Amino acid sequence: MSENNISSIKAREVLDSRGRPTVQVEIWLQDGSTAWAIAPSGASTGSAEALELRDGNASRYSGLGVLKAVENVNTRIAPALIGLAPENQSAIDAVMLDMDQTEQKTNLGGNAMIAVSLAAAHAGAVKTGVPLYQHIRAQLVAWCRSNGHSEDLFSEPTVPLPMTNMISGGLHAGGNLDFQDVLIMPVGAPDYPTCLEWIVRVYNQLSKLLTNDGYEGWLVGDEGGYGPRLTSNRQAVEFVIRAIQAAGLIPGDQVTLALDVAATHFYRDGLYHLNAEGGQVLTADQMTERLCDWVDAFPITSIEDGLAEDDWDGWQGLCDALGDEVELVGDDLFTTNVRRVRKGIELSAANSVLVKVNQIGTLSETFETMAVARDAGMSMVISARSGESEDWTLADLATAVSGDRIKIGSIVRSERLAKYNRLLAIAEDVSCGWV
Ligand code: PGA
Ligand code: ZN
Repeated sequence: MSENNISSIKAREVLDSRGRPTVQVEIWLQDGSTAWAIAPSGASTGSAEALELRDGNASRYSGLGVLKAVENVNTRIAPALIGLAPENQSAIDAVMLDMDQTEQKTNLGGNAMIAVSLAAAHAGAVKTGVPLYQHIRAQLVAWCRSNGHSEDLFSEPTVPLPMTNMISGGLHAGGNLDFQDVLIMPVGAPDYPTCLEWIVRVYNQLSKLLTNDGYEGWLVGDEGGYGPRLTSNRQAVEFVIRAIQAAGLIPGDQVTLALDVAATHFYRDGLYHLNAEGGQVLTADQMTERLCDWVDAFPITSIEDGLAEDDWDGWQGLCDALGDEVELVGDDLFTTNVRRVRKGIELSAANSVLVKVNQIGTLSETFETMAVARDAGMSMVISARSGESEDWTLADLATAVSGDRIKIGSIVRSERLAKYNRLLAIAEDVSCGWV
């Protein structure tokens, strides 16, 4: 009888939600069944992230083509994986890591590797006949057992709480806000379908409030959040609070706020340059004070990248000031990289890790980062990128690892809804982590 292992692998160039090329990988098993995945792509990327290998040939897609990454899958990775069992994720990822041998996946390309890694997870689920989240959970447990980590670090799969973008700024929207996202978390919702209804209600109220006050309450940024030209970062937070109230919900009780400051992109020469605040230039201490003031004034329970990716001293100060009351999430700070997470733990620089699989390049390395973070008691936010696709793997990944939160972007645009909607199906069988 056939083992039903990998019989062929094919990569192709497809487009992401910004109309930029990205890598899709399709895997066939010996019985003819198939599975696929598409690499996501960031815009406000951390400098320690795995390389997105792009062609650099300006006559095609302004140099953003991914034909080299596609070729790396088709001519180098695929031949090495034919015949392997798709349900052995560690072995598949190990083959690619051995072949690449670089810190930031500059040899094969992180985009090539993550598309293969995720497609293999799908193929494993197809072969074993279980939902993807169950298969990833089994892989996570197997990884923990063979790498000396307790599988008890991870509870049984649970649906994570959505952390949803309402207003976009920074590098994701054409407006003038410094901060990248103002998000809401429906902490008081009794179940996942109610979460979605609340989020949509707030989103629609926000459109009305912005429009009534003369701002662009219909233009959206890369992740579907509104991108209005407001006069200050604070005004964005105030609008979202008003929208929660207008939706008949209680800020702080039923719905809390989160920020993704994405501070790296306005950090220069050791200082934070806030354009939306009249060109103010702040030190790390002053940024921390600013964030403390906001936490006092508003029901903010989570702040991502409040300071820049290499401002470790600043992060220590921020964690001293707010670590007991607020989730301080490292995105650019950690780039899902276990070495950076270990450094953050040693320095007590943050208490939460953002997980983006394409920052590191394989699912197995993502497991390692998560195990180390969980072992240190950190919470986990499993996150999409600003460039996404119809691939909904993220929903299953976040459920499989019982992530505390899932950050998909806003509640419009199909590359976001693919994940929100997939969670609706998962939530029919899996309980909610926050209830
Ligand atoms: P990115 O943004 O995908 O452009 O990096 C998402 C985030 O910063 O969380
Ligand atoms: Zn971020």
